[in-house]
Amino acid sequence: KVVNVVLSGGVGSRLWPLSRKSRPKQYLPLFDGRSLFELSIERNIAFCEEICVVGGIDNYQLSRDIMRKMQVERYTELVEACPRNTAAAIAFAAFAANPDDILLITPSDHLIKVDEDYRNAVSQAIQMASDDHIVTFGLKPKHAETGFGYVEHEGNEVISFREKPSEDLAQMFLESGKFLWNSGMFCFKAGVFLEELKKYEPVVFEKSQKVYVKRNGIYMNDLISREIPSISVDYAVMERTDKIKVIPSFFEWSDMGSFQAIYDAAPADDQRKIQSNMVLNSSKLVEFVGVENVILVETEDAILVLHKEKAQDVKKVYERLELEN
Ligand code: GDD
Ligand code: MG
Repeated sequence: KVVNVVLSGGVGSRLWPLSRKSRPKQYLPLFDGRSLFELSIERNIAFCEEICVVGGIDNYQLSRDIMRKMQVERYTELVEACPRNTAAAIAFAAFAANPDDILLITPSDHLIKVDEDYRNAVSQAIQMASDDHIVTFGLKPKHAETGFGYVEHEGNEVISFREKPSEDLAQMFLESGKFLWNSGMFCFKAGVFLEELKKYEPVVFEKSQKVYVKRNGIYMNDLISREIPSISVDYAVMERTDKIKVIPSFFEWSDMGSFQAIYDAAPADDQRKIQSNMVLNSSKLVEFVGVENVILVETEDAILVLHKEKAQDVKKVYERLELEN
């Protein structure tokens, strides 16, 4: 069977004050009243017999509420004791599945337009995964982003996988025309993934296997969890495995990491946009005079006034406040 493994571990610190520990960004109803989590389930449920959400305890109830609302029946949840990065999060799901199950791994915080291109790419990935390949989705790079992985390819063949390159390298990759952005979605058999993980990161493999505590819902043991090396699946497996293939894809995709990305994704006639400025979540009348590229965000207990170009720095505010509390 095909299982959609939804990674829902992050908080989305660059979307403070909308996102909080108790209300991570993927659950915020920012898109016509719907959340990224909800949109991601809706987009992938058609391909899968079962959904498996991996995330922390704070996200557990939020995910569950959405599953109820959407009437998803075949649904399991793996509750992490603490976040140990994506190699471990995927390993938990792979151990919970049967070795021959095909896992479609998806982040819960991307905005993707569902069209023929998307459906074709996912169907093709499931097909290739059933032949024991580890499949990534490659998208045409738009700029020299250093926060993504790059896949050097010829057709479906992967020549190299390079996670989070330096600025110079990213620029070279972009100019060479031979690299695609790794979308962050993957497709493979549970057993094939675990074999590769065992080969390249045996400690992550062993500890992730031992960590299960079965209760209602599946919880992870806290002490063992802390011993799992924190490494992303990109470094742990994707850069190293020779079973990797890529599907060059053309669907519209964005990683909704920052307020800048939310501004860019909103249509020109979005009510929340006032020329180059934007107001999010305020019930008050807001006027901008003599300022450009400013985003104002209001919540019950906080106001953020942000220059769009500094959208990445919101993380620093979040980190400072988390430390103080
Ligand atoms: N359950 C769980 N536990 N989920 C996690 C954890 C964890 O410990 N850590 C991260 N995640 C989730 C995040 O919430 C997100 O949905 C997804 O896994 C990817 O993690 P990110 O931290 O957002 O990764 P990234 O953006 O730096 O890089 C990845 O995505 C890029 C595209 O957006 C890589 O796969 C890159 O190669 C890729 O280009
Ligand atoms: Mg990301």
